[in-house]
Amino acid sequence: MAPNVPAHDDALYNSHASSSFLLSHHRPSTPRRTPPPSHHAQQQHPCHMDSSQLVAHDQFFTQGAEMLPLVDLGLLCHADKAEVQKLVMAVKEWGFFEVANSGVPLKLLSEIEEQVSHVFALPLEAKTRAEPAAGSFHGYLTKSSGEDGKMLQLSEALRLPLNPQHRSDMIIQFWPEGNEAFSSVVEKYIAAVDTVLLQLLKSLALGLGLDPLQFTRNLSNDANFSALRMNIYPASSQSSPTLGLVAHSDASILTILHQSSVAGLQIRKDEKWIAIKPRLGFFVVNVGDMLQVMSNDLFPSVVHRVVKNNNKCRSSVAFIKVTHPEFIVGPVPELVSQQQRTSPYHPFTAEEYYTSMTSHGLLDGKSNLDRFRISPTVEHQRITHLQRKSTIQV
Ligand code: OGA
Ligand code: NI
Repeated sequence: MAPNVPAHDDALYNSHASSSFLLSHHRPSTPRRTPPPSHHAQQQHPCHMDSSQLVAHDQFFTQGAEMLPLVDLGLLCHADKAEVQKLVMAVKEWGFFEVANSGVPLKLLSEIEEQVSHVFALPLEAKTRAEPAAGSFHGYLTKSSGEDGKMLQLSEALRLPLNPQHRSDMIIQFWPEGNEAFSSVVEKYIAAVDTVLLQLLKSLALGLGLDPLQFTRNLSNDANFSALRMNIYPASSQSSPTLGLVAHSDASILTILHQSSVAGLQIRKDEKWIAIKPRLGFFVVNVGDMLQVMSNDLFPSVVHRVVKNNNKCRSSVAFIKVTHPEFIVGPVPELVSQQQRTSPYHPFTAEEYYTSMTSHGLLDGKSNLDRFRISPTVEHQRITHLQRKSTIQV
């Protein structure tokens, strides 16, 4: 497909029952890009930072744009059996799915997009004040390069803690006088998306015949890795790398992604990269490494990446939730007996998982989870070898 997916295409108006449900509740609105208030006058728009010599990167879009399986959160909230089964099948088969009728207003989605563009438009010195402290995952991150100095990806990200106090401490690093609009949109967004995440995890547990709270019980907003990650990917240019974000799997239980209307997300399926078409108002949700282990590999944590668009800036917001650090991540015992298959991983705590991730860095694919495999695969050995050569923080 062409890399430039039209903004907010007609997919919203497809015949899926849940789309019409969504439309009847939320009138679509065009995301606003209002200029920041006057005290942010020195801001430069991040989408303008890399606009020279545009070239096409059509080769990345090897597959046509795909529609992921779509589930209706309204039906899941009512424990609709067919919808719960549809969710479970989608997750087993794809590890990724889309959520319609999430209850999160389109207005809030457009407001969060607007705040993402404000924060990345701040002067570099304001952003670098918020670079992660030693041992922390939170803060402002930018370009990653390999050991040989070769740049592999280009993006900016801000990981805001889910812990409210830590979050307001971080916001002050960006705006010493505070920023009420930013804070209140972020608060509302986190509360709304957290509700979506909890419902999805309950439905997944229900669909597997487990205690509905099985996957939610040990989650923690205080965990160092639980975050709202804002991403911005400038338009591509000849001199810049073609990847916005290198291939990786997520460390989370589930990640809930809101993407802007600009395409770029690709997922690895059946040995191919598949481009995922943005659809207004639908979240893209994926299984993270922790849920893969807890589900005893029933739900795959699928590798994905972001390729850059040749002339448009992409932004996204990923809601990432993990367990508290001491929680031992292992398969749910009922699943082990149902499947009569023991876990392929050594049990590990969430803390050990992150320590391993930071000490090795990420290069490609599921390298961190593979480190906990009881019998390392050939692929794992290859990745470990490559990792000695390069360190990338995703
Ligand atoms: C991530 C991620 C995808 C995107 O933040 O982990 O995969 O489209 N983001 O920004
Ligand atoms: Ni990701």
